[in-house]
Amino acid sequence: MANNIRGFNSKFGTIMAATGGAVGLGNIWRFPYTAGSNGGGAFLIIYFLFVLFLGLPVMLSEETIGRRAQKNVLGAFKVLAPKHKIWMVPGLISIVTAIVIYSFYSVVAGWTLNYIIASASGLLSGKSPDEITEFFNTFTSNSIFPLIYQFIFLLLTIFIINRGVKDGIEKCTKILMPILLLLLIVMCIRSLTLEGAYKGVEFLFKPDFSKLDGNSILDALGQAMFSLSIGMGALITYGSYMLKQDNLFTTSLWIAGADTLVAILSGIAIFPAVFAFGLEPTSGPSLVYIVLPNVFNSMSGGTIFAVVFFILLTIAALTSTISLLEVPVLWANESFSWGRRKASLIFSALVFVLGIFCSLSFGCLSNFTICGKTVFDLFDFITANLLMPIGAIFFTLLIGWYLPKADVYDELSNSGAIKPKLFNIFYFIIRYIAPLALLVVLISGLL
Ligand code: PFF
Repeated sequence: MANNIRGFNSKFGTIMAATGGAVGLGNIWRFPYTAGSNGGGAFLIIYFLFVLFLGLPVMLSEETIGRRAQKNVLGAFKVLAPKHKIWMVPGLISIVTAIVIYSFYSVVAGWTLNYIIASASGLLSGKSPDEITEFFNTFTSNSIFPLIYQFIFLLLTIFIINRGVKDGIEKCTKILMPILLLLLIVMCIRSLTLEGAYKGVEFLFKPDFSKLDGNSILDALGQAMFSLSIGMGALITYGSYMLKQDNLFTTSLWIAGADTLVAILSGIAIFPAVFAFGLEPTSGPSLVYIVLPNVFNSMSGGTIFAVVFFILLTIAALTSTISLLEVPVLWANESFSWGRRKASLIFSALVFVLGIFCSLSFGCLSNFTICGKTVFDLFDFITANLLMPIGAIFFTLLIGWYLPKADVYDELSNSGAIKPKLFNIFYFIIRYIAPLALLVVLISGLL
């Protein structure tokens, strides 16, 4: 059904591309340790509520903006709010956010490549827990090797972006996402069939509300936004590629549902295995790179599962970096007529330069701090606590207050072709609840 000149070819392709952008290191690397350090099951409930009542409506708003305007993230605001320059702000913020996230995200993505090679070549097998920790610390603090892997990751992303929206992004995510799901299911089966696995399942699903505090709630919201890729225009960009006849409500439900499913499956793949081998679930960012290699070492067939796991993580990261790079690439392409090749090379070079500082935050720049944070942590903090909430507030204000309600309805009903039953609930959330909730997040995240 090659009927969309601008963007994706089919609804399936759209969902795979957008889900690929959403599913990433956030689901497999960040979600398990964030849930782990916030008490597991109780965190999960709060997380669900945020996805449903905030994540989904903001996602839908972004898609509406993109599809209505048929433009890149900055151009979309120029089309929809041509008279007021203030609306350039969310567009510009989105471009900056994408570049900043990409620069620290690609560091961790690069580590994953190294772990595929390390596990496949047996470098990690038979090692004691201390040796595995040492391996992680030595590698991440090295000034050269992580940069090489990061560079390779950037090249992979450029390669796909250069092939275009249909032949690059859509085609490759249509292949990679089902593979990712399959590999994840394999990992879940392995984890659940280990002796003592039930403790991990209990940890993930049995809510213990005593572990929750104000910070957990902020963590849950921050995690939901990061995981769904909302608040920074990736979904405005992809929204502009969505087919006019697609029902954006169902598209968003698919994306948010699949993203949440992958996060839960990652929890199922990780926690039962961690508990089965008597390790700690609350190990922070190193959960995947230190705790899991220990788990793999203790299980039969561990080497194979380690390789499968890190390939899975690489695929997840790659489909997300594609969506990150596409944001500035489409902007430059439409604003300055740069070709995709030129735009992707220039932005990747910028990301690489910023990425050097992020990578060295784990080594020779670990003592170089700004406001008490390393460059890596600072980039993470600024995007999650400042830029993404601000971006999301602007998006909700545009849809809930600036654009006429009839225009929003027109876009979401495909000019009357469908009758979105949930429209009024969506509109109420976007007009009143979402901007206020995001403001609370923004203020408390900065305190
Ligand atoms: N959602 C991605 C993840 O969970 O890993 C990260 C991400 C990708 C955030 C793209 C924002 C974005 F625009």
